[in-house]
Amino acid sequence: MLRVCQTIFSVILVLGVGARAFSQQLASDAIEHRIDTLLQQMTVSEKVGQLVQYTGNSPQTLEQVLQGKVGSLFNVVGAGDVNAAQKIAVEKSRLKIPLIFGLDVIHGYRTVFPVPIASAGSFDPELIEQAERVAAKEATAAGIKWTFAPMVDITRDPRWGRMVEGAGEDPYLGSVVAAARVRGFQGRDLADPQSVIACTKHYVAYGAVEGGRDYNTVDISEQLLREVYLPPFHAAVKAGSAALMSAFEDLNGVPATVNRHTLTDILRHDWGFNGFVVSDYGAVDELLQHGVAKDEAEAALKALTAGVEMDMADGAYAKQLGPLVESGKLPMSVLDEAVRRVLRVKFRAGLFGNPYTDPQREHTDILTTESLLVARKLAQESIVLVKNRGLLPLDKNTKTIAVIGPLADDKADQLGSWVAQGSAADAVAPLEGIKAKVPGAEILYAKGVDLDSVEGSRVFGTGAPVAAPAPSTATGVLNVGAPTGPPSINDAVHAAQKADVVILFLGELAGMTGEASSRASLDLPSKQEQLLEAIVATGKPVVLVLESGRPLDIRWANAHLSVILQAWYLGVQAGNAIADILFGDASPSARMPISWPRSVGQIPIYYNHKNTGRPTSPDRWHTGYLDESKEPLFPFGYGLTYTTFQYSNLRVETAAIAPTGTLHVTAEVQNTGQRAGTEVVQFYVHDRVAPTSRPVRELKGFSRVTLAPGEHKRP
Ligand code: NOJ
Repeated sequence: MLRVCQTIFSVILVLGVGARAFSQQLASDAIEHRIDTLLQQMTVSEKVGQLVQYTGNSPQTLEQVLQGKVGSLFNVVGAGDVNAAQKIAVEKSRLKIPLIFGLDVIHGYRTVFPVPIASAGSFDPELIEQAERVAAKEATAAGIKWTFAPMVDITRDPRWGRMVEGAGEDPYLGSVVAAARVRGFQGRDLADPQSVIACTKHYVAYGAVEGGRDYNTVDISEQLLREVYLPPFHAAVKAGSAALMSAFEDLNGVPATVNRHTLTDILRHDWGFNGFVVSDYGAVDELLQHGVAKDEAEAALKALTAGVEMDMADGAYAKQLGPLVESGKLPMSVLDEAVRRVLRVKFRAGLFGNPYTDPQREHTDILTTESLLVARKLAQESIVLVKNRGLLPLDKNTKTIAVIGPLADDKADQLGSWVAQGSAADAVAPLEGIKAKVPGAEILYAKGVDLDSVEGSRVFGTGAPVAAPAPSTATGVLNVGAPTGPPSINDAVHAAQKADVVILFLGELAGMTGEASSRASLDLPSKQEQLLEAIVATGKPVVLVLESGRPLDIRWANAHLSVILQAWYLGVQAGNAIADILFGDASPSARMPISWPRSVGQIPIYYNHKNTGRPTSPDRWHTGYLDESKEPLFPFGYGLTYTTFQYSNLRVETAAIAPTGTLHVTAEVQNTGQRAGTEVVQFYVHDRVAPTSRPVRELKGFSRVTLAPGEHKRP
């Protein structure tokens, strides 16, 4: 009886799936048919218009919209402005083709979430997807139908400022996160008014820029390209990413903007991508600087024929494609295919049927209580506990707490590198979060040093500990949130001396990370190293909370402190999430999404390196340095919590898999400590003998497991 029921159920399931595929096919045939009809009606100028994207909504730009010479606008925000520009396109232009409105919604729209490098460390794709759903809902409420995200560039080089925007160094984690972000942005249906079109970027290998210098050359092997840099893009395409953005850099001699191998052979042919590719900002014109085009016409021709359908901001397509068609250099079929791809996404996104944004949504859908809860949870899950010799979690009854450092009372920098419509006023600074968490405690705040410019990063600590001033005899609250003069290390030391515990917030300003923010040093900028050393010299227990978009050189801190947390930039709920973790209302569960170097000289450093012919030896004749270990300070995947776990009973469920097949491996995990906690179980493989040398370890799976004390599971 059971068997019969199962069979009937399976048949219904198959029919259901078949019916869905059939109706999807019908819908897609209908779209292609409507595109055919439109293409027949369009002039060359109108076709070219679909491939043109401008920034802003100046009267001149809107005039171009009216003439059907624009396919997309970006940086136009708010239902009012968006609807006004859309009205020109869909009611006044000849063919009434809707515009797509784009924006960089990289880690939240108004509810700013942790920066992507931070949330990747949560190893929690479900929560990341949920956060992107919130971002999509908020962005679409303001008329934005296209986000220039996810950024899925793998990087092994923290000098590159854009490390902060991606998921770190691992292609597997990067792929899982890329797919989760796409699902979150696009939802189940791109035509849902709360879904945004994803634009996976920067295609491809941008994270491999030489020397970590932004926009620089990339020269890598095909194997590296395929095994490390391409997988997150492939995962995003498989998850349905409707658009991609090509990268700025020149890849193996052929700039990414004109790289037929990656744009057409791999993306279109191998992966069957049927969306469209937009260039990065001004990248078509930059082909002249790269030296691969003699003029703008050649640049435009090369980019379009290689597979870049839309031109961002520089107007190269707008000026050049028409004359190129006229002269016969650009076949109409190539132009038509590009237009078809853009129109297909517009149809799929429901823009023809539903081009306007309901202005009411701006009042109901943005910065809601539910969104802030997601932001707080993701922020908690993004904090990596890298060291804890017993001090954390802090006792909520601690009498006097010194909160020190240039980032402690800074709201704006909690938001990170891309803030979309985020506002510093929405952000909870760490000082605020701590005060709210322990209202009964006396909080002494001192900024210690200023951290106010990129230039500041060139003023390094001397390395010599600053002598602590004699203990102050003054009583009362010192400098609590109301500095009287410029910040001084002495004031900070006085605050520390009066406290039972010091919480020290050091790091980088958010503006020191992101685009065009490469650094040649990983030192703590400004005089923070001196501040750190002076605070440690007080002998008080110190908790170091680092905020940065990249790993910093914290060898001294690691040698002298017993507690270190990496908080990255956690978004609007930063202060609350940090306080939750510090005082034990949440337990840390994040892991390092990168290998944390000891010093800048170790870069590039990554866990999935090759073994080499000389991995180790008792003498000097092995791969390494004379003056530094070759091991990172903290490895990829590393992170602590407030309890301990033990693994046992590893079981390989499948005996043999050669030449193909699935290997099932399981293990038991037990919480062996006194508190509940979450372990990120990670599964790595190594191919011992292969035709080419293989990485020493490759992540192939992970799972977050939450266990009560004593509890065990086989996840
Ligand atoms: C240039 C950046 O590289 C890219 O990530 C961004 O989406 C565009 N500018 C648009 O702001």
